[in-house]
Formats: sequence, structure tokens, C-alpha cells
Amino acid sequence: MTSERQSPATPPARRGEPLPDHLLDDGERLSLDELRALQLSRLRTTLRHAYDNVESYRKKFDEAGLAPEDCRTLDDLARFPFTTKADLRDTYPFGMFAVPMDQVRRVHASSGTTGRPTVVGYTENDLSMWADMVARSIRAAGGRPGHKVHISYGYGLFTGGLGAHYGAERAGCTVIPASGGMTARQVQIIQDFRPEIIMVTPSYMLTLLDEFERQGVDPRSTSLRVGLFGAEPWTEEMRREIEERMDLHAVDIYGLSEVIGPGVAQECVETKDGLHVWEDHFYPEVVDPITGESLPEGEEGELVFTSLTKEALPIVRYRTRDLTRLLPGTARPAFRRIEKITGRSDDMVILRGVNVFPSQIEEIVLRTPGVAPHFRIELSRRERLDRMTVRVEARPGTADDTREAAARSIAQGVKDGVGITVDVAIVDPDTLERSLGKLRRVKDLRET
Ligand code: DLL
Repeated sequence: MTSERQSPATPPARRGEPLPDHLLDDGERLSLDELRALQLSRLRTTLRHAYDNVESYRKKFDEAGLAPEDCRTLDDLARFPFTTKADLRDTYPFGMFAVPMDQVRRVHASSGTTGRPTVVGYTENDLSMWADMVARSIRAAGGRPGHKVHISYGYGLFTGGLGAHYGAERAGCTVIPASGGMTARQVQIIQDFRPEIIMVTPSYMLTLLDEFERQGVDPRSTSLRVGLFGAEPWTEEMRREIEERMDLHAVDIYGLSEVIGPGVAQECVETKDGLHVWEDHFYPEVVDPITGESLPEGEEGELVFTSLTKEALPIVRYRTRDLTRLLPGTARPAFRRIEKITGRSDDMVILRGVNVFPSQIEEIVLRTPGVAPHFRIELSRRERLDRMTVRVEARPGTADDTREAAARSIAQGVKDGVGITVDVAIVDPDTLERSLGKLRRVKDLRET
């Protein structure tokens, strides 16, 4: 089925086509020297602001024998102590806010699967900077003023929905605030309202894709041209799957509540080669996850961020637990890129001594014929031995022998590629629970 396509005021950018100069903002026009000078002055202000107004920073800096002014170069930052999720939890809910509560316009909280959530706060200026960064991200992804943006990130304490919302408005787009859930209705709305852009977790995009097909709509016939997918890891194989099933550019958006929310780093549609960090507001470092030592550009480790302009919750050397490497800028030459994040240090499963990331399994599942991109990983213990079972849905109409071949091929792929033996169960289409927001791939049954 093909349907007539309403062309937007300006078509989305294509791969290889740089952003027109008039759409770059002031931060994106900085030369490298200008950027570094701006970062240093903003960093010194941030350290002073944190030290003067947040007890836990004051204590930590004092213990390390450091004053904010000891940061004379950007490299000096590495001498300052880290901040972790535990610091935010220990001061729950507002103990790390650096401004009086009457200047805090909004709070968000990250879900936190265990224990207390972490609470983050924003002043009016913080909210405005955040909207600017998401707007910049939308333009980098190919969005233009006049486009309609369908937002299926959850609205609420999660930063995804409202973060995307105000950014899309700031970019001059029309917002369709769908939030998560009511999948059949979302598909109807996409057909009726004809948005060019969608912002959603990649796993919920798959849920929407299946629903298009269930309703007899060819997903390639929709008005969607660009998807900004984030809030969870996803692989190049997943990009291919989505881009093949839909006629759109799938680009990566990264962020975390403690640093601001979505819009910390964004992949540019013209290169699709990792995510440019919006370094005029968020200073990245990569450190060895075990020793905490700074690693040079190109080496893989844990991503660490320092905010450069935030008022309500300045964050100094925050350990994200996300694993990646820093790379030189391309489409935005002054801003360094991070490689697509394929795992968090706490997502990693250690099975009989081998480190396994769910993204490694995703790559293998997605290149196997006959199975759908829906899978779960189950950990169990049998006779004091840890076992991993990968449950994968068959594509509808897949014959039994193809299913068996798929199971064998996935098990072999994991053995060859990851080095572990796993059980693979191919289950019927539509039997695994669908994700409405962030996906949890791993179910650990070992303690029960
Ligand atoms: O997930 C913010 C966000 C919303 C980003 C919408 C993008 C789109 P939190 O709930 O605090 O914030 O979770 C942050 O999610 O440390 C990563 O582990 C993971 N994450 C976020 N974006 C990506 C991505 C939002 N593009 C945590 N790729 C982060 C891989 C991501 N992981």
C-alpha cells in the first residue's frame, strides 16, 4: 500500500547532506579554541558554585585538599573527586541542589530499579538550556521547523517525555505528546496526524512497528522520516532492522537525568557515526571503570560527565556507568563524539567467568533468519552452575525446521562470538512481553 505523502515545509536532511549554516546555533559555530576557553571558564564557575552551595561537594573537595580555583586547565579536572548515584541517593531528595527551592522550577526522578530514585532539579535557565540542547539534537537528526514530532517517550518523572517535548517546541516543531502506551491508538494517530519525526525508545518503536503490521498498514508508507531513538542501548543491527521496515533515518539520542535528560549527545543524520557530545554544556571524560584513571581519546571505558552551565544541580565528574570511547568530531568538528553505547557496566552479565552484554546477543539474534527482534535473556542456576537461556520470538509463519535452524545458529553464534554455551528457545510470535518504555532484557532467576 502506498499513500500520498504530504511534504513538510522543509524536507528532513538526508545522509551526507550537512546542516545548512543558518540552522547552526552559536555553540555549534565555536572554533575548537573558543570552545576550550569557554569550557574552562564555565568549569571554574561550576566548581565554585558546587563548592559554595552543596555540602557534599564541599566535603569531598576539602578531603581531596582541592579548592575550585585549583582547576587551572581542563586537564586539572581529573584531580577532582567523582560523583556517583550513591551521592544523590544519600542526600535524597533535594540535598545536592545548589539553589534555594523557590528557584527550582521542576524536578524529575530516575526510576532506579532498586532503592530510592535519584531526584534532579532544574532552574528556569536549566530548563531553557535543556530545551536548546534537545532542539539542537532534533535539527542534527534532520528535524526542521514546521515538522510534526510524535513523542512516545513517557511523560512524568522520567525525563524522556517532557525533555523531548520542550526541545521540539523550541525547535519550532509541532508536538504530538503521545507518551507511552495505548499502542493501537498511537498507530492511528501517526496515520491521521502525519508526523515527520518520532521520538521513542527503540524497543517501543518495535512494538509500534508490529502494531502497524497488525493493523494492515505498511510501516514504509507512513509519514515518518526520522526517528530519535534512545534511553536504552541499541545496536547497528537494530538500526538496520528499523530502517528496513520503515522508510526513515534511525538516529541515536543519549542523555541521563543526572546530567540533564535527553540531549546530552546526538548522532547527526548526515554521518550516523556516533553521537556528538554537546560539549559547550556537558564536559565528557572516559575513565578506567576499575581504577578511575582518565583514558586517552579512542580508549574504551566509563563515561563521566561534568555539567558546565547547570544551576540547580551542578554535577562534577558523574560516573554514568555507560561504556564507550571518545572520538574526534566529524559533522560538528569542535565537539567530540562518543561511540554508540552498547552497554552499561551494571548490565554486564558474568556467566561462568565470561563477560556478556545483552547487546552482543542482540547483534546475533538480529542477523538470524526466521526470528523477530524480540528476545529476552534468562539467568538460572542448575546444579550450582549458572546457565543462560535466550528466548527469541519466531517471525509469524516460520516453519518448524527454520525455527530449529535459527535456534542452532544463535547458539553457535553466541559460542563463536562470545565464547559461552547458551540454551536457545524459539517461542511463538507475540508471546514475549512488549516494552512500553525502557526495556529490561535480562531476567535473573538465580537468587529465587
Ligand atoms: O534515559 C534520558 C533519555 C531519554 C535519553 C530519552 C534519551 C532519550 P535516565 O532514565 O536517567 O535518562 O537513564 C539514563 O539510560 O545512563 C544510559 O545507560 C541509558 N541511555 C540513555 N540513552 C541511551 C542511548 C534517560 N542512546 C541511562 N544508548 C544512561 C544507550 C542510553 N543507552
